[in-house]
Amino acid sequence: MGRDITRRGLIAGGAVAAGSTLAATGGYLAAARPGDRPAPAAPPAAAATGAATEPFHGPHQAGIATAPQTHAAFLGLDLRPGTGREALGRLMRILTDDARRLTAGRAGLADAQPELADIPARLTVTFGFGPGLFEAAGLERERPDLDLPAFPIDRLRDRWSGGDLLVQLCADDTVTLAHALRLIAKDARAFATVRWTQRGFRRPPTSQPAGLTQRNLMGQLDGTVQPADLGTAVWIAGGPAWLRGGTLMVLRRIRMDLEKWDEADEGAKEFSIGRRLAGGAPLTGREEHDEPDFEATDRLGFRVIHDDAHIRLARTADPSRRMLRRSYNYDEEVDRDGVTDSGLLFASYQADIGRQFVPVQRRLAATDLLNAWTVPVGSAAFALPPGCAPDGWIGETLLA
Ligand code: HEM
Repeated sequence: MGRDITRRGLIAGGAVAAGSTLAATGGYLAAARPGDRPAPAAPPAAAATGAATEPFHGPHQAGIATAPQTHAAFLGLDLRPGTGREALGRLMRILTDDARRLTAGRAGLADAQPELADIPARLTVTFGFGPGLFEAAGLERERPDLDLPAFPIDRLRDRWSGGDLLVQLCADDTVTLAHALRLIAKDARAFATVRWTQRGFRRPPTSQPAGLTQRNLMGQLDGTVQPADLGTAVWIAGGPAWLRGGTLMVLRRIRMDLEKWDEADEGAKEFSIGRRLAGGAPLTGREEHDEPDFEATDRLGFRVIHDDAHIRLARTADPSRRMLRRSYNYDEEVDRDGVTDSGLLFASYQADIGRQFVPVQRRLAATDLLNAWTVPVGSAAFALPPGCAPDGWIGETLLA
């Protein structure tokens, strides 16, 4: 019905619309003379970014080991009452089909704007199962440990916490991302309601070569130290059979008090992290990737990297047990006084939350100097199933 009315409306209103377009164009043409405007610049190598795809199929889901794209949207869903195992299977088949098509630059099955699917821009769509999904499916015995203790620094809000199902969408193009998000949210509608949406961003590859460590909104290079080997640190090899090749994710929304951070001088800022702001080198080194010397002392005998510096407390001695951090900046409303609501969507991926994330977060929560400027306001944990084959679907190992 909607389509009919629209078409009729278009025919009736077409002449007016076309007329006004012509008038506008005529006006522009009349005003413009050769030489008034610089020749349009040659198009940048945009097509290369727009046409690029990330493989959807494989042993692991894309969007985890994938080099971070510029934009991210994290969608937290709550299952509608009565959405059990069989319905979840249907939902995941539909959403997998959407993801498979969109990430390849093809329109979704019920896509009302198929033109928007043309530019995949390295889109990835990654799915995660929260604690409530296992309960709804009657599969609690298959649930990995997703529990996070309450940390004393937490000021968590429901509107950014929890969730039964996570859809993480990342792309180098915001229009692509908006379209994929909308299609997925729409297709999930019959099965789930939206609990939260969290959007984040990083610098695009057109501004900074991919692969370089990026800066967060505090100005620090963030993401230098990562696991030596994703095989042991991130991908699950033991535990429940359905989760092998998958991983566990923690998403924390951490607000930054940037007004207060502005008041700290460079020395204090570097002291709190244990690294230099300019190049990200540890306070005991010269280059970003130099190994920090945690034992080094200054001439007064004090440790150069303070006992409560972020990198000392966050360090995991065994590089094979480090978490993979793939965080995004966020920046929402600017209030009446010109103060931004800014922070980090801290996303970590690890094989074992209890052994990898929790001990680090406990130490940070107890004495991290950075806590003077940051506060966690959202928190959620999900099990991310393995990837699937071209004829499979994400979640089949649990729900089929
Ligand atoms: C807004 C909050 C945070 C900010 C601004 C921040 C910033 C940083 C910076 C600048 C570094 C040094 C460079 C690097 O290796 O990436 C770092 C390292 C690290 N951070 Fe954070 N971080 C935050 C929260 C967290 C949280 C919540 C965790 C985990 C619970 C965490 C875990 C780590 C780890 C594991 C390292 C590497 C430590 C090493 O082995 O050297 N960070 N962070």
